[in-house]
Amino acid sequence: MIIHSRFKDYNVEITEDLSFFDKLKALDNSEFVVDKNVYRLYKEHFDGISSDRLIVIEATEETKVLDTALTICEKMTNIPAKRNACLISIGGGIIQDITGFAANVLYRGIKWIFVPTTLLAGCDSCIGGKTSLNYKRFKNLLGTFYPPDEIFICPAFFQTLTQKDYESGLGEVVKFNIMTSMDGLRNIENEIDHLLNREEDSLRKCIEKSLSFKKSFIEVDEFDKGERIKLNFAHTFGHGIETVTNYAIPHGTAVAIGMIMADRISENRNILSHEIVERSEKVLLKVIHIDYDLRKIDFDGFIKAIRKDKKQVNDQLTAVLMTNVSKDLRIVNDIQLDEIKDAVNYFCELYYK
Ligand SMILES: NC(=O)c1ccc[n+]([C@@H]2O[C@H](COP(=O)([O-])OP(=O)(O)OC[C@H]3O[C@@H](n4cnc5c(N)ncnc54)[C@H](O)[C@@H]3O)[C@@H](O)[C@H]2O)c1
Ligand SMILES: [Zn+2]
Repeated sequence: MIIHSRFKDYNVEITEDLSFFDKLKALDNSEFVVDKNVYRLYKEHFDGISSDRLIVIEATEETKVLDTALTICEKMTNIPAKRNACLISIGGGIIQDITGFAANVLYRGIKWIFVPTTLLAGCDSCIGGKTSLNYKRFKNLLGTFYPPDEIFICPAFFQTLTQKDYESGLGEVVKFNIMTSMDGLRNIENEIDHLLNREEDSLRKCIEKSLSFKKSFIEVDEFDKGERIKLNFAHTFGHGIETVTNYAIPHGTAVAIGMIMADRISENRNILSHEIVERSEKVLLKVIHIDYDLRKIDFDGFIKAIRKDKKQVNDQLTAVLMTNVSKDLRIVNDIQLDEIKDAVNYFCELYYK
């Protein structure tokens, strides 16, 4: 799949196995940036890469910071090539964000290749070109647009994810399907059990579907000015949940919960039918398992977090809501606190019943 971008067109290849590693290892003037858990689990595949070509990073929100990106830049000064140097990033969204940022600022931009090893990165974040770093207590405060030159996705990586990280990826997958139309909803109803069993055929199909859906938005609005904002469906509430639970609930799971909340608001506004809401919930509840008690949520903190979200442009609360009409997601600017309170209570009643 080719993604067209203002920076360059870039290719996404879905592979059966890790044989493409040989090609990466043979690249001159390249340095590997690898997630620590991936390195531990797939150590034999990194044989033959000398230690001076390898940067292993623990993927936490605390390491997704400028210092880590600068360490990578400094290490790259050992490579004789400058703008022809290349970073090879292997990991989830955290390793992607750090490497993409470093590749962007080093010598005003060098090549980088991304190998997503989480479902969330493989089905969603690997395309679109966003890079973000945290600063102090501000998540994703610093960021740029800088897509990789090539992406290799091997679904076999997803077998070793913890259930929590895997289900987080499924949250975004369900989102893409539900957003697509009735066909998407039907598709995810049929596929969800296969996906929960991590069947590679289903995974491959779901990666293709999710990425081609996202492609249709990012190619018309690469810089998030209009159409692409719709991909933020459920994210207003999702980001609030991530923040108020101090990231105990991972991104994709928070988005899945956010979808249930957003759909409740849509149904109350009579723009989404009860049938679609009920069917979506049934799929979503299969991928939501949380150990944080959302009944004890600090509601004021939750609203404060939503207001701080960078997609909020003024005092009124903005969110993307689903309507019955296929692909017609609506960006609304008049979400009321009562509606959000009702949606939180509704989710809690549904989940904890
Ligand atoms: N740039 C973007 O467009 C974008 C989009 C969405 C999210 N993000 C960012 O991505 C981050 C979340 O990324 P994520 O959910 O992909 O995961 P992650 O990078 O946070 O990794 C989650 C965990 O999975 C482990 N892991 C990774 N691959 C593994 C594998 N194959 N087997 C076993 N364990 C593995 C990691 O070590 C880590 O412990 C957040 O910081 C978020 O802000 C970026
Ligand atoms: Zn997301």
